[in-house]
Amino acid sequence: DDEEQTDKGMSSDSSAEEDESDASEKEEEMVRDNVSSPVKPIDTDVSRSTPAESKPAPIGEPSKDKPATLPSQPAIFIPVDRSPEIQEARLKLPILAEEQVIMEAIQENPVVVLCGETGSGKTTQVPQFLYEAGYGSENDIIGITEPRRVAAVTMSQRVALEMNLPQNVVSYQIRYEGNVSPETKIKFMTDGVLLKEIQKDFLLKRYRVIIIDEAHERSVYTDILIGLLSRIVPLRTKKGLPLKLIIMSATLRIEDFTENKKLFPITPPVIKVDARQFPVTVHFNKRTPLDDYVGECFRKICKIHRMLPSGGILVFLTGQAEVHSLCRRLRKMFPYRSKQEPKVAAEKDEAVQETEALKAFKKSKPKKNMNLPKINLDNYSALPVDEGDEDREAGVDDEEGEGSDFDLDLGDAGSDEDEESDSSLPLFVLPLYSLLAPEKQAKVFRPPPSGTRLCVVATNVAETSLTIPGIKYVVDCGKVKKRFYDKVTGVSSFRVDWTSQASADQRAGRAGRTEPGHCYRLYSSAVFSDFEQFSQPEITRRPVEDLVLQMKDLNIEKVVNFPFPTPPSTDTLIAAEELLIALGALVEPLKTGRLTVMQKAKLSCPITPLGRTMASFPVAPRYAKMLALGKQHDCLQYVITIVAAMTVRELFEELDRPALNDEENVVLKGKKGRVLQMQKIWAGQGPAQKLGDLMVMLGAVGACEYSGLTPTFCERNGLRFKAMMEIRRLRGQLTTAVNSLCPDVSMFFNSKMQPPSESQVNYLRQIVMSGLGDHIARRIRPEELLDDAWRNAYKTPLLEDPVFIHPNSSLFRQLPDFVVFQEILETTKMYMKGVSSIEPEWIPALLPQYCHYGDPLEDPPPFYCEATGRVKCHRQSTFYRVGWPLPAVEVD
Ligand code: CDP
Ligand code: MG
Repeated sequence: DDEEQTDKGMSSDSSAEEDESDASEKEEEMVRDNVSSPVKPIDTDVSRSTPAESKPAPIGEPSKDKPATLPSQPAIFIPVDRSPEIQEARLKLPILAEEQVIMEAIQENPVVVLCGETGSGKTTQVPQFLYEAGYGSENDIIGITEPRRVAAVTMSQRVALEMNLPQNVVSYQIRYEGNVSPETKIKFMTDGVLLKEIQKDFLLKRYRVIIIDEAHERSVYTDILIGLLSRIVPLRTKKGLPLKLIIMSATLRIEDFTENKKLFPITPPVIKVDARQFPVTVHFNKRTPLDDYVGECFRKICKIHRMLPSGGILVFLTGQAEVHSLCRRLRKMFPYRSKQEPKVAAEKDEAVQETEALKAFKKSKPKKNMNLPKINLDNYSALPVDEGDEDREAGVDDEEGEGSDFDLDLGDAGSDEDEESDSSLPLFVLPLYSLLAPEKQAKVFRPPPSGTRLCVVATNVAETSLTIPGIKYVVDCGKVKKRFYDKVTGVSSFRVDWTSQASADQRAGRAGRTEPGHCYRLYSSAVFSDFEQFSQPEITRRPVEDLVLQMKDLNIEKVVNFPFPTPPSTDTLIAAEELLIALGALVEPLKTGRLTVMQKAKLSCPITPLGRTMASFPVAPRYAKMLALGKQHDCLQYVITIVAAMTVRELFEELDRPALNDEENVVLKGKKGRVLQMQKIWAGQGPAQKLGDLMVMLGAVGACEYSGLTPTFCERNGLRFKAMMEIRRLRGQLTTAVNSLCPDVSMFFNSKMQPPSESQVNYLRQIVMSGLGDHIARRIRPEELLDDAWRNAYKTPLLEDPVFIHPNSSLFRQLPDFVVFQEILETTKMYMKGVSSIEPEWIPALLPQYCHYGDPLEDPPPFYCEATGRVKCHRQSTFYRVGWPLPAVEVD
């Protein structure tokens, strides 16, 4: 047999500590100014204080010095009318047995950490406990944050159902969507939504309790929220409006929250809910398959299904494309026939629509160019003071490490000959990943049709956020898709990597929810012992300019001293601060000689009005700057489209991949020719071409919308239909955001748009450049060549190595002298993607932060400019760090 067996105990010791911290001497303003220094806790109520040395009473046993009345304890009990079935199901949940312990701990402590196996009932039950105990009475709200949108939506629905309350009482709010009403008592939201609320009301006065759910996932927003709440809670106590903070976590690595004195000077009590976990037998593979873990999953599932007794199968893969590919193979092998959903009617007049789309873009003969138009850096969309959208969310999208938009769908890889359908029981195969439509996600919670076996093929959403009933077998490929960033350059790539031991154990645990189960790990125990113990918190793995901007918008200036549960490196913080200064989002510090790294890090640059506007857009700061400048010359609809397209990224199907067989090879080749021709058309003519890949994106979106955005049109032209749909959705969202943030802009969103005029193309190039100032590259001219490796190469200030225009770029053959790029992706070489050409004379005028200007004494003498009535002079300039000479710029 090819498996080793290990029995894995799933229980663990519980630990409990009890302590109190409920007062702060500092006023709110002081905390805002210096949220960094830990707030010294002082005891206000002698009767309740426990000396630090004394042994805390174990949770569950009444504490001896427990006061007769607790000021923070609500007096009311709110009855809930649950159906008998629901009540019966609830009583089976391990957390129900702990209700009293949990509620006592919450009543006696401002901060409580609650740990319990996935499925023990934390998310669905704790809000109900609180509600029944009166925490949601009067105008108070119980707030719960989730790192994933999926969880916020499904959990609010589940809790509403369990409590027999309508969705305007148990509600959810995700970025631009929600059903919160004045009646809302329990509010599920994404962590980004709560962060935005803190910006409006630092004390979160409407909330009586905040639950930070899934804290073990260590999403950046969750981490920041915990840091902020560690300061807000004592302030609220001081004001006589106590706020309770409950941190809920699945795995047991909670020391970052409990042992971090900077965060919580007094260790919060930890309550461990012992889940009724049935034993799970873990089977390791003897050998670890090299690459084809999807194939290995397929074989393993076939074996389980044919040979093992009934019980659902849950498979962990890394991304959406893999999930779909495996689902297809399994459905083919063990077909389940149901009423087929009617196929989408084929597009009737596709040919006609397409010609129109082509015509529209061919017609885009640009108007005559005016002499070098320039955008105005000071003319940005401004935020109205103290107004704006109620519930905005900071991040643009759940990445969830799934990188679903970046996958190549390799179709049914592997030979089909030996995959003739099998006569076994039908397999009811369901995909599950974060971007799956909610109604499709909900299917996994229902029992499978009788006479079938359930098989859920999932990404790591199923690891902790959602508990699928009836799973007896887990198949774990051991991998996870992660986004990796280069700390210095921000060069990013998605890589499938081994997961951590903690995650692998979580996955295994999914098999033992209802009866003893089995977990099949498609890797050896030797490989497992090399896994890192826990996954690194996200905040240590990515650039943080967006977070720093959000914090500055909260008037937290010394970000370096912020009580992060796990702080990002100082280098990362400095890089972020520098980028934000360069973008004009933070006030540039006075240049007083050379600053050391530490001095710089401690600089507390305040936010600028432009920075505030940027902080309110739900996109990364570079793109936010583009949006902020975008209203000029009627460019906003194009800027929105470009930003949406850059955020969604892989618009085009990958056609360079090796074909699976000869037949496909012919198809791919034919398609590629056609797609290249289309891209040429989208790239425009004359000056429009200079916008490069961004013009291609604009053209593709334009043509697609003209054709009515059909799957057929996308398929024929090498566009990914899903990406195009996502772009449309984002364009709508960004338009809404701009409309609500900028009183001087009122845009009507029409998905169809005319191509930009020639001068607009120039403005767009400038707008894009002003957001991507640190992503400028200069061509190495043939006469400068020292090394053959630099042929057709570009130099950037970021990297020593040469970078190249990606062969699929529309500027690949044109090799402009100066370009900006969206990002560098490392494959066989360092390739720039999303390339646009720029004019060097724009750099000193539009990116002053990146330029050194010549000594005024050496510059040509000043002159009087009649047109403006001002005295001006020309200043020589060079590009920072690298010293590239740039054209002279005229200054006042
Ligand atoms: O948060 P935690 O992982 O501790 O558990 P939970 O999400 O509160 O789930 C408790 C139970 O409710 C599990 O057994 C789930 O299967 C069940 N549940 C359900 O049946 N339908 C949902 N939509 C959500 C949860
Ligand atoms: Mg949960």
